[in-house]
Amino acid sequence: MNIDFANLQLQYQKYKTDIDEKIHSILKNSNYILGKEIYELEKNLEKFTGVKHSITCSSGTDALLLAMMAIDIQPGDEIITTPFTWVSTAETIAFLKATPVFVDIEADTFNINAKLIETAITKNTKAIMPVSLFGQPADMDHIQTIANKHNLKIIIDGAQSFGSTYRDIADSNLGDISITSFFPSKPLGCYGDGGAVFTNNDNYAEKIKMLRVHGQNKKNYHKYLGIGGRMDTIQAAILLAKFKYFPQELKNRKIVADYYASCLSDILQIPIIKQNRTSAWAQYTVRVHNRDNIQNRLKTKGIPTSIFYPLPLHLQDCFAYLNYKLDDFPISEDASNEVLSLPMNPFLKIEQIDYIVSNIKELF
Ligand SMILES: Cc1ncc(COP(=O)(O)O)c(C=O)c1O
Repeated sequence: MNIDFANLQLQYQKYKTDIDEKIHSILKNSNYILGKEIYELEKNLEKFTGVKHSITCSSGTDALLLAMMAIDIQPGDEIITTPFTWVSTAETIAFLKATPVFVDIEADTFNINAKLIETAITKNTKAIMPVSLFGQPADMDHIQTIANKHNLKIIIDGAQSFGSTYRDIADSNLGDISITSFFPSKPLGCYGDGGAVFTNNDNYAEKIKMLRVHGQNKKNYHKYLGIGGRMDTIQAAILLAKFKYFPQELKNRKIVADYYASCLSDILQIPIIKQNRTSAWAQYTVRVHNRDNIQNRLKTKGIPTSIFYPLPLHLQDCFAYLNYKLDDFPISEDASNEVLSLPMNPFLKIEQIDYIVSNIKELF
């Protein structure tokens, strides 16, 4: 049986007519940069999330940069975040010459352990950056309480969690600023790079709109040092075409996750979604002790798997200057040794999941 990890080709074939039509309309009018589809998409994102302002941009990584530039992060500022995430989270902090300060994660959700945040706060701390890893928001009540107490901003790295909720509020509608990524394999993906920044703050929104076009406040006049961070109109058009299918895709991802859980919960550690939260199920990530063995065996059966992430950020060469060492964040280090993400997409059929599960079960 042939199993696809993210099934992007099948997705395109299903929505081909809508997607092709949208792409061709841009090719016909040549409005490649900030065409009307950008603004139409932003309206749709605002409606879907309930956030006042949605500003699309060139990637999730640039969305993080724009968010931090909007709250005026300066060299030497500290931002508290998790070491168990994709590099962009901390890379962008470092890129602005601020300092990523890591605290360990919860073993069950893989998200930042809010109970540890206060111990990492110093006079230089400016913000907390929780990551909604694999699609599930972090413990936002706790994080918001800490932020209020210490007068810190919250920027949510929701690159993997567009469509998730916390107490029925969209993950994109929490914190001071939230961001997402539309990388192709994300829950809502375009067919290239893309991202968005979300905020209810009018001043941040106005600034981010300028920052994404080189800090320009009117043509050829630059109020801020910004970046070339616009989303391509063609990518916005693709997202618009896919948007109407997205709620059903989210439901399908949950059906896949629930079915995996019903089959696997008694043999390995399955993902835990906390009360009052929903996941966008960007990944279905289990924990296993004999990971190499399982991964290799599944590969021989045509079942692709991935490891997000094999080395936590505090042990990456690029962050050696921060002087962290092995054992500093043991929960993240254990997770890195044990996580295995199984195929997850809205088009997986029950018989395909049965095939994946039966091959896993043979190894236990
Ligand atoms: C947690 C996290 N943050 C940031 C990003 C960056 O998003 P992009 O690839 O769109 O730049 C990603 C992408 O994988 C991510 O998973």
